[in-house]
Amino acid sequence: MAERVPYLTSRLQGFGTTIFAEMSALAVESGAINLGQGFPDTDGPPEVLDVAVAAIRSGQNQYPPGRGVPALRQAIARHQQRWYGLTYDPDTEVLVTAGATEAIAAACLALCEPGDEVVVLEPAFDSYQASIAMAGATPVFVTLRPPGYRLDVDALRAAVTDRTRLLLLNSPHNPTGTVLDRAELAAVAELAVERDLVVVTDEVYEHLTFDGHAHIPLATFPGMRDRTVAISSGGKTFNTTGWKVGWLCATPALVTAVTTAKQFLTYVNGAPFQPAIAAGLDLPDDYFAGLAAALGARRDELCAGLDAAGFTVFRPQGTYFVTVDIRPLRDDGDGMAFCRALPGMCGVVAIPNQVFYGDQERGRHLVRFAFAKRAEVIHEAVQRLGTLAGAAA
Ligand SMILES: Cc1ncc(COP(=O)(O)O)c(C=O)c1O
Repeated sequence: MAERVPYLTSRLQGFGTTIFAEMSALAVESGAINLGQGFPDTDGPPEVLDVAVAAIRSGQNQYPPGRGVPALRQAIARHQQRWYGLTYDPDTEVLVTAGATEAIAAACLALCEPGDEVVVLEPAFDSYQASIAMAGATPVFVTLRPPGYRLDVDALRAAVTDRTRLLLLNSPHNPTGTVLDRAELAAVAELAVERDLVVVTDEVYEHLTFDGHAHIPLATFPGMRDRTVAISSGGKTFNTTGWKVGWLCATPALVTAVTTAKQFLTYVNGAPFQPAIAAGLDLPDDYFAGLAAALGARRDELCAGLDAAGFTVFRPQGTYFVTVDIRPLRDDGDGMAFCRALPGMCGVVAIPNQVFYGDQERGRHLVRFAFAKRAEVIHEAVQRLGTLAGAAA
C-alpha cells in the first residue's frame, strides 16, 4: 500500500507520483534508452509546425474561443467525416480540450455523480482511475488478459450494474496494443443501447494501427452516435504530445455538459497550436499511412529483439507499445523490480504494467516497452536487450 500523502484528499490517496516520472528520471540519471514514457523522439510534420510558428508570430496568443478555434473544430468535423463517415456539427458537437487527458477528466466530472460506477478496461491508461476518483465515482474493471488481450464480452456484461453511469473504452488500447474488432465493438454497442449507457471512447491512437487492423469508432455502430463521447488528440498523430491539443465529439447536449466541467479546468489552451493541428488533420491520406507504416517497422524490430532476448512477447495491433511477460527472464515475475534493475542490466528503461491495473497483482509479471522512437534508437535498444538473452535470474 502506498504511503499516506499529507493534506491530500482521501479520493486521491494512493495515486502517488506516476511511475513515468520515476522511470524517466532513472533514464536521465543512468543514460539508459528511455522506452518507458510514450512520446516520440522526432518532430511532427513541418506543415504542422510552420502553422504554429506563423500563428505565434501573427499574434494568435490570447484566449481562443471556449470551444476551440473554429478552424480546428471544422477540421475535426471534416476528419470524422473523411475517415469514418461520421457527421458532427463543428459549432455544437465538437469541443477542443487540453489533450485527451482533460477531455476524459471533464467527461468524468461532468457525467458522474459521486457513487456512480464507471466500467473501464484493465489495464488502463493511468489517468482514467484518477479522473474517475476525482469525480467521486468508482471504477469497475473488465480485464483484458494475455496472450490475446481480447475483450471478454460476458465479463463486460457482468460488470454493468444499476449504478453504472459510463463505459470508458480505449481502442487502440494502451498498454496492450489491442485494436477492438467489429464483433467486440458490436457487442459493446448492443450492451450500451440495452442498458441506456453513455460510452466515452479514447481514440488517441486511431491512426496508429498495423497489419490492416483498422480503427473503427464505436460511434459508427447502430444507436451509438448519440450516446458516445468520442475523444482523440493531435499528440500521437502529429508527434506533438507536448502541445496538448485534444478534442471530443458528441451530441450538443453531451458537449454542453462536458464543456461545463472543462471550462473550469483549463477554460482554453494552446491558441497557436490549434490552427496547426487543424492543418495536420487536413493532411493527405499518405501522411497517415506513412506514420503507421514507419511505426509498424519499429514495432517489428523491437518485438523481434524482445523475443530474441527471451521474453514472451504480446505483439500489438496498434499504439506505441508492446507488452512482454518477463517470467522467462526473471522467475519471481516482479515487473517493478525488473524495471528498476533494467537500466543497470542493459541500459534500457521500461514501465512495469502493474501501474495500469486496479489490482496490481494481475499485471505484476508484465512490462511495457515503447517503440515510438527513431529507427537507430530502437536498433541500439535491441542490441542492448540482446545481452539479456540467457541471463535468467
Ligand atoms: C490511451 C491514452 N489516452 C490519452 C493519452 C493522453 O493524451 P493527451 O496527451 O492528448 O492528453 C495517452 C497518452 O499516453 C494515452 O495513451
